[in-house]
Amino acid sequence: MQSAAAERVKVQLLRRGVRHGRFVAEIAPDTDLAGSQLADHALPRWRADEPLVVRGASRAGVRRARRDIARSLALFEALRGGASFESLAARRLARAPFRPAGVTIDLGDTREIEKLFVDALSASGRAVARDLYAKLSWIAHDERDTSLRVRFSFGAEALLDWQKETRRARWSDAFARALFPECGVIDENQALLALVEQMVGRRVRLSERIIYNNAPGGGATFHHDDEPRQLGVVFTQLEGATAWFALPKRRLAEHVAAAARTAKLRQRAGTPRKALRALDETSDPLLGKLLNATPSFTRRLVEHGEFYVLRAGDSILLPSHGPDEVCWHAVFALGAQASLAHSYGVFPLRDAPLSATRARGSDRTSARSRDAR
Ligand SMILES: [Fe+2]
Repeated sequence: MQSAAAERVKVQLLRRGVRHGRFVAEIAPDTDLAGSQLADHALPRWRADEPLVVRGASRAGVRRARRDIARSLALFEALRGGASFESLAARRLARAPFRPAGVTIDLGDTREIEKLFVDALSASGRAVARDLYAKLSWIAHDERDTSLRVRFSFGAEALLDWQKETRRARWSDAFARALFPECGVIDENQALLALVEQMVGRRVRLSERIIYNNAPGGGATFHHDDEPRQLGVVFTQLEGATAWFALPKRRLAEHVAAAARTAKLRQRAGTPRKALRALDETSDPLLGKLLNATPSFTRRLVEHGEFYVLRAGDSILLPSHGPDEVCWHAVFALGAQASLAHSYGVFPLRDAPLSATRARGSDRTSARSRDAR
């Protein structure tokens, strides 16, 4: 599906004060989402925990939603300048069926700025889903990174309510869309949704939504998004661009083992097996420095083809099959302005098996075994 006419773009990677260097990324032509060959190419990648970049998946939707996208960028700019999330959100929700239900600030998390709670209302004004929230946070503890994000979920975070109960998930998704109407770009992209459903072999909902506003010099350090019942992640760039390193955890462990130079790091992560376990402790400063702040390691990943650049309208799918079978990733903001992207978790839609036609070629057995975990 990738023709020879790939475009090459030069990018400079700088994150949290560390200059990683200048690199060239290949941008393939738009993915043919209607193409019959796509699943043949994509399924083996999904099963192997490899990232799948879908070029131009939402290009038309991004064009249609340009006013909503511009308004959301302006909202983040105002928030970065210190405006109140509560009052800006109230204005955006004026005609939406959600009633304010309080604001909290977690003093134990220096990244958290404001967490807004709302209740969803029925047409008659009755509360049908309580304690849906939108949590505004800085992405990093580092003051050089002024990236922001808003995470949508519900209930008590510490009790992991979102993992135990699914009834409120669709209300939480609707709340995200009321506050950030450009959610429609992804919600209404049937071809992208069909591709995701082909990958996991069943009907899905896109929940636990996060809206990213990555600022110059910012981004996300290496991590994974393996969570119970979450089958993967769909990240869509709506404005600006981001650079990505994305690869299966086991291959990242091989890179770490090969690049571990100091005696301490060799002892901890000097073989792929040791490195696989070491990745479970990314708070380890030595490993964190290698993964996230070592330009020669970044160069190694580029040279091994683990590097991607996403532009507006592109999506990246990140598979998740378990703690060691998951696509790890790191993000760098690109460009001179803060960008906008939406990241949604892929969850099974209960009681909604994929029809026989759409499930053709998909791995139904592994989808069932994931459910059982
Ligand atoms: Fe992630």
